[in-house]
Amino acid sequence: MRMKFVALGALAAVTSFALVLGYWISSTSPAASAVVKAVAIDSDDIGGTVTSDHGAEAGVWVIAETTDLPTKYAKIVVTDEKGQFVIPDLPRATYNVWVRGYGLVDSAKSRAMPGKILDLKAVAAPSDKAAAQYYPALYWYAMLKIPAKGEFPNSDPMKSQGRWLDIVKTDGCYTCHQLGDAATRTLPPALGKFHSSADAWERRIQSGQASASMAGAISRVDTHHALALFGDWTDRIAAGEIPFAKPSRPQGVERNVVVTLWDWNSPKAYLHDEISTDKRNPHVNAGGILYGSPEESSDGTLVFRRV
Ligand code: HEC
Repeated sequence: MRMKFVALGALAAVTSFALVLGYWISSTSPAASAVVKAVAIDSDDIGGTVTSDHGAEAGVWVIAETTDLPTKYAKIVVTDEKGQFVIPDLPRATYNVWVRGYGLVDSAKSRAMPGKILDLKAVAAPSDKAAAQYYPALYWYAMLKIPAKGEFPNSDPMKSQGRWLDIVKTDGCYTCHQLGDAATRTLPPALGKFHSSADAWERRIQSGQASASMAGAISRVDTHHALALFGDWTDRIAAGEIPFAKPSRPQGVERNVVVTLWDWNSPKAYLHDEISTDKRNPHVNAGGILYGSPEESSDGTLVFRRV
């Protein structure tokens, strides 16, 4: 007990000495201060700092991605209050490393291998409109107008505003895909020429293998009214309107996140479902193989092993 106390006491003394020394060096010698503040990395990490013309950029994403591995791989981290980052434990490959963040436009890409320190330059967005292109899709979808509460009940089966919201969101359109990303908040010219944007929407959601389900979803609300509102939504966006809310950058522990994205397959096939364990007992298959189902896109069953 006594020994432990002594050891801790010694450690505390060393730590405060180091802090004092660090403070003394950083406040006296600019060259040495760079050494004290440098980001510490291992040989399989990429680290560094992100700055823009406004100084250190805190709470922005630093993305390392590569196509050197059998399938595309990306790892994403967030900068701390000094604009510093570490992308840890990268498989050996050459990476494109770049910065995305709210209030910015995407930076240029730097090429780097693990073990490298990078000073990345973030680019401030020239306008609110340019910044908004990176907002989550839902910020754009929230601009879709919804009939007022007083307009219900209008026609069977639309009994309430809540039911309408349920169908244009959770239990209808959003069952299969998000709305509000660049592909869905704009009308592609290749779709053709139409009298109105509502007509364009009527044609658009009858496209592709899921057309019956999409038409089915919109027919559960007052269809003409809904198509008019979707048309109004894309018209306002085409005219320059942007989301009324601005997302805030990650704060606090949100900045500790490390996201690893490793594609299951090539761009020629897609994965519909994956399973790693049994939700009734999540200890099953811990650290084991993940199994994927490519639905109708290929004949194989995919397995994913950690390397
Ligand atoms: C059953 C699943 C499903 C539902 C429900 C669904 N969609 Fe889709 N949606 C798809 C699929 C799959 C595609 C891609 C179609 C294709 O290109 O072959 C798609 C494509 C789209 C596109 C075109 C995107 C582009 O790139 O141009 C829009 C817009 C769209 N959906 C809107 C809606 C709306 C609005 C609803 C609700 C009324 C809805 N979807 C409901 C599966 C669905």
